[in-house]
Amino acid sequence: MAASRVQVPKWVQPQTSKEKLDYIELANLDLSKFDDPTTRKELAKEFFTALTTTGFFTITNHGISKVDWDQQMDLAHEVMTMSPEEKKPYEVSCEDDSKGIYCGFKIAGGPGYHRAVDWFNMLLNDKVADRKVPPALAPYMSETRKIMHHVRDFVQHKLLILLAMSLELPEEDVLATHKRGECSSEYYRFSGYSPLTKEEKVKSRGLFMPGHADWGTFSILFSQTIAALQVLDYETGTFKWVEHVPYALIVNVGQGLELLTGGLYKATIHRVVTPPKDQEQELRVGLFYFSRPNDDYMMLPMASSPVLKRLGFDNPLDPEHIFNATEFLEAKKHGYMKPDFDVDKPKDATHVDDFRSGDRYGIAKPLVSYGPGSGIKVQ
Ligand SMILES: [Fe+2]
Repeated sequence: MAASRVQVPKWVQPQTSKEKLDYIELANLDLSKFDDPTTRKELAKEFFTALTTTGFFTITNHGISKVDWDQQMDLAHEVMTMSPEEKKPYEVSCEDDSKGIYCGFKIAGGPGYHRAVDWFNMLLNDKVADRKVPPALAPYMSETRKIMHHVRDFVQHKLLILLAMSLELPEEDVLATHKRGECSSEYYRFSGYSPLTKEEKVKSRGLFMPGHADWGTFSILFSQTIAALQVLDYETGTFKWVEHVPYALIVNVGQGLELLTGGLYKATIHRVVTPPKDQEQELRVGLFYFSRPNDDYMMLPMASSPVLKRLGFDNPLDPEHIFNATEFLEAKKHGYMKPDFDVDKPKDATHVDDFRSGDRYGIAKPLVSYGPGSGIKVQ
């Protein structure tokens, strides 16, 4: 069977930028240290440090082979380079979109969507068993499902155990917050960021995605060669570039984990900007997995954690708004906890931010401090 499949065209990623960029220093968690109890303890300490400083880190020895990794990159490139007409039959329907079921390509030119940003979402827990996917991807869905579930059941699983260790909680209590099949918005995503025209660049302030925090627990990105991702450095209060690490996963903390830890592990502010000059005309292809709590999980601090108690992070961050995970996503879609972080790229008087068209919560303040020196200093 496999021999008769159409071979996925090999995609050679663009060269890394030669420009001297101000990169942020990220910790690396080597998951090969997980199996031995002694080195696992070290890893839990490294996890704690990474999550109380930048909230961004890389992962190596994640169990995805180079062959499988490259195949996913090739598939993502094939899917993201389909024409708008070819993509159309696989767009999320307006009905599903309004119900929060976001599967397939985003609606081209829909409200709040940046034209140059394109996504293809695959649900990990898809209620539709035989959902149609583009022809280039269809013969490779079993491999693709294997990878997305590996990221969930191997990488995320280990991160949740490290989370339990770092909070001195029983691991089964933490694992129960992310039960298999209990989250309807757990996605694996291919993304494509097309080069901006001169006009688009001015209109968007050179931002593909403005500064924001993701809403889930962990966002896990497959590192790729085009520099565009920036992270807010709490030491300086400025955005710094994230450097490509071949075959490493890049992880950032989302607001879900911030709420579950009362702000100890705060969500990291990041954005996607125009790549440096020598990569500006390239399509930036991305691969992501978004980790999220169970739909009905209440987004409150895991108050039985001795660590959260000891450090004073055991209270709800926003007692006025207590949501479960589904309600929190809905609130996020309508502007909850979405301040403007791109103060270094001021808007002119005529600027209209399409992303804010459906906001109910207005320009909300973040629940934790993100200013210079706001990294949490604990031993
Ligand atoms: Fe993000």
